[in-house]
Amino acid sequence: MREHFPLLANDPELVYLDSAATSQKPASVIERMNRYYLSENANVHRGVYKLSEDATRAFEEARQTIARSLNAKTEEIIFTRGTTEAINLVANSAGQAYLKPGDEIVLTVAEHHSNIVPWQLAAERFGATLKFIPLTSHLRLDLEAAKSLIGPRTRLVAVAHISNVLGIEHPIAELIRMAKAVGAKTLIDGAQGIVHGAVDVKALDCDFYAFSGHKVFGPTGIGVLYGREACLEQMPPYQGGGDMIERVTLQGSSWNILPSKFEAGTPAIAPAIGLGEAFRFRDALDLSAMRSKDKQLGLALIDALKEFPDVRVFVEPGPDWVGIVTFAHSKIHPHDLASVCDNEKVCIRAGHHCAQPLMDILGVSATARVSPFVYNDAQDIQRFVKALRKAELLFV
Ligand SMILES: Cc1ncc(COP(=O)(O)O)c(C=O)c1O
Repeated sequence: MREHFPLLANDPELVYLDSAATSQKPASVIERMNRYYLSENANVHRGVYKLSEDATRAFEEARQTIARSLNAKTEEIIFTRGTTEAINLVANSAGQAYLKPGDEIVLTVAEHHSNIVPWQLAAERFGATLKFIPLTSHLRLDLEAAKSLIGPRTRLVAVAHISNVLGIEHPIAELIRMAKAVGAKTLIDGAQGIVHGAVDVKALDCDFYAFSGHKVFGPTGIGVLYGREACLEQMPPYQGGGDMIERVTLQGSSWNILPSKFEAGTPAIAPAIGLGEAFRFRDALDLSAMRSKDKQLGLALIDALKEFPDVRVFVEPGPDWVGIVTFAHSKIHPHDLASVCDNEKVCIRAGHHCAQPLMDILGVSATARVSPFVYNDAQDIQRFVKALRKAELLFV
C-alpha cells in the first residue's frame, strides 16, 4: 500500500500516524490533478470551446463518481471547501428554512468544533437552543439521555458519524430514527465516517452528510455536502455570486437549479477532479478489511501501552471502535511527546483535536492521538512505541 503514496514511498523512514488529521495522497490523485493543470485547465460551466467543455465534463464526472459511491443523486452533491464549510452552509441555510425562536438543535458533547460553533452562531441568529447528548462512563453516546433530549421542539440533530478523538462510531442510524420520529432534520458530520467504511446516504436516511476530501485520499480545499433534494430545494442559497443564479436584474435575482444554487463562484476545479479520483481509489479498496486492519494496529498499540504505567488510554475498544488511540501520559505533555516522535520521524497528533468540550469531559487540556490507516503496519506501531520509550528517558 505504501507504494501507492509517493510521499511515503519516497521516504521509507517516515512513519505517518496522523491520518485522522489528513490522509496521504495516492499517486493516482496527484497525477489526475496534474493532468488537469497540464492539459485540461479551463473554467467550468462557462466556455463554449472544447477545453472548457472537457474541464466541465471532468468536474461533473467527479461529482457523479461521488454521488454513485454515496448512493445519492448527482444534484444532491454540493462541492464545498470541506466539512467545516458544509456544516456552516447547513447551519445558515437550513437555519433560515427551518429554525425559529424556541426551537432546539441537538448535538453531542463529543463533537468537533466544526459541528458545534456553526450551531452556536445559528442558535444565536435564529433564537434556538442547543442541547447536548452526554456520554456514558464508557465514552459512548448515552442513548437513554438522547431519547429524552430529542423531542417535539427538536428541529435539527447534528452528530459526528465517528469521533475524531475517540474513534468511536456513533449509533447514527438510531439517532436518525429518533430525529425522524419527531420530524427533525439530521446532519451527519462524516469527516471521519467517510474514511472508515462505505456510506449509503439513502440507507442511512439522513438529510445531510458532510465530509472533507483531504481525509479520504483527496486534496485539501474540497469537500462535499450531501443534501436530500427536497431539503436543498427548500433552503435559500448560502453565498451569492456567479453560477448560482438563473437571472440577475438590478432589482433582484432568481436561483439556478441544484447543485449550482449552492456553488457560488468558480469552484475548486482541480481539487474536485482530484476528489473524484480519490473516490475511485477508495472504492476499489476492501473498506471493511481496511477497517479491521486499522483496528488490529490500534489494538496492538493499546496492548503495547499497557507496559507504560503512566499512560492512560481513554477509550475501551469495542465493535464500534475504528482504531484511533487517544491517550495521555501523566509525566509527558502530548506536545513534548509529539516533538520527540518527530525527531524519530514518527508523526502523531497532540492537542485538543478541536474538541475542547470533550477534553473537559476527559479531564485534560490535550491528548496524544495515533490514527493508523491503510498504509501503516505493525512496524510503524513499534517505531512509535520506541519513540515513546525515548520520551520517557528524557522526561520521566
Ligand atoms: C469529526 C470532524 N469534524 C469536522 C472536521 C473538520 O474538517 P475540516 O477541517 O476538513 O473542515 C474534522 C477534522 O478534523 C473532524 O475530524
